[in-house]
Amino acid sequence: MSKQTLTITDNRTGQTIELPIEHDTVPAIGLRQLKVQADDFGMMLYDPGYTNTASCKSQVTFVDGDKGILRYRGYPIERLAKESTFLEVAYLLLFGELPTASKLTDWNARVMAQTRIDDGLKNLLQTFPADAHPMGVLISAVAAMSTFYPEAKQVHDSETRLRQVLRMLGQLPTAVAFAYRNGRGLPAIEPDAALGYSDNFLHMMGFAGDGDGGIDPVLARAMDVLFVLHADHEQNCSTSALRNIASSDADPYCAVAGAIGALYGPLHGGANEAVLRMLAEIGDVKKIPAYLDRVKGREVRLMGFGHRVYKNYDPRAQIVKKIAYEVFDVTGSNPLIDIAVELERTAIEDDYFVSRRLYPNVDFYSGIIYQAMGFPVEIFPVLFALGRTPGWLAQWMELMGDAEQRIARPRQIYLGEGERPYPPIGERG
Ligand code: CMC
Repeated sequence: MSKQTLTITDNRTGQTIELPIEHDTVPAIGLRQLKVQADDFGMMLYDPGYTNTASCKSQVTFVDGDKGILRYRGYPIERLAKESTFLEVAYLLLFGELPTASKLTDWNARVMAQTRIDDGLKNLLQTFPADAHPMGVLISAVAAMSTFYPEAKQVHDSETRLRQVLRMLGQLPTAVAFAYRNGRGLPAIEPDAALGYSDNFLHMMGFAGDGDGGIDPVLARAMDVLFVLHADHEQNCSTSALRNIASSDADPYCAVAGAIGALYGPLHGGANEAVLRMLAEIGDVKKIPAYLDRVKGREVRLMGFGHRVYKNYDPRAQIVKKIAYEVFDVTGSNPLIDIAVELERTAIEDDYFVSRRLYPNVDFYSGIIYQAMGFPVEIFPVLFALGRTPGWLAQWMELMGDAEQRIARPRQIYLGEGERPYPPIGERG
């Protein structure tokens, strides 16, 4: 077998070092041996946006971006989306194995038993302006939970950790629905623990209507599958933010609140909202070529397209596109779907997108479904956050059990001023 090492020669000095290769990586700290002067700091890696830096070893989610593969704990996303419920997938992500039937029943009951929210949280949610963006509200709600459950600080106690996991999974949909209805002057609808996770969420949002037969099972299942598709995506921007925050032993509510903050941006989870606004702005299939010219002229980005990892069709987008038509059979079609389909067709044949390997991502079709179901556009990123919560929590649990992890603290290349004399205020230019 060949030697599992990487030999590097520093041409400034002729110094050669040999670094061990494990899992196709070398330890970055090994480069620090490379110095010109003995008192130099030593060589570092420069990697803005962490495009080629592994920050952890993980067993949760596998993505092969070139082949368009996504697996949670080894199970293909296509199979999980077809066969499993969202809470079943949450269990898988958190504990590493699919639950048996009895374990799943118990798990569902444990999560659903946590769906009531504190009066303190209700009071807080009533203080936001009616037009507050739901992501800002959700960030605040999750951060506030840190004050309601101070035991969460005991991040190295596994029983305490699990209690916070159950609270977050159970309470976040209730907080979202409560804030949504409160912002519209509608009375809150209490959670119904006898329902499934997504059924209960749509019920609390008030989507069952008055006195009818409850939530249409096709819509409840579509919601559940959309949550499954969003449940984890390895070391993306929000998950990395979460790991950074939690690496200081901050409690999980603060870490998840920070992750939601990262998700809020239009390049990440805010893209589903941005896609809908973009499709509405295009407004007509005839205007697609002109819009794509603006994209190619770098005036705007084609939202819902492109991905740091996928250089092929995002497997989640294929499933979302299929769900859209299932939902439309119940809700009636969303006219924006025609624009989206034509936009995709035109873009994936255009050299600008082909040469950069830009394809639709998970956010391209999801907003069209959410809108058809009755969600207002600004709540779309919140739906992403609800789906991603078990993934964040699974990554947090993994981090807490990883003896190799230390507080996250990157280095920088300092290019600012050297030491200079301090000018008194009256002498400054
Ligand atoms: N529209 C137009 N051009 C694009 C797009 C896009 N959506 N995405 C990438 N490019 C171009 C970019 O201009 C660059 O071109 P050039 O090499 O000529 O300068 C090239 O493709 C590489 O782009 P990049 O910005 O270096 O790629 P990245 O890996 O840093 O960014 C991304 C990934 C997702 C932020 C980006 O593709 C993007 O902004 N997409 C639109 C927003 C979006 O849909 N986000 C949701 C991502 S999936 C859900 C999630 O997990 O967050």
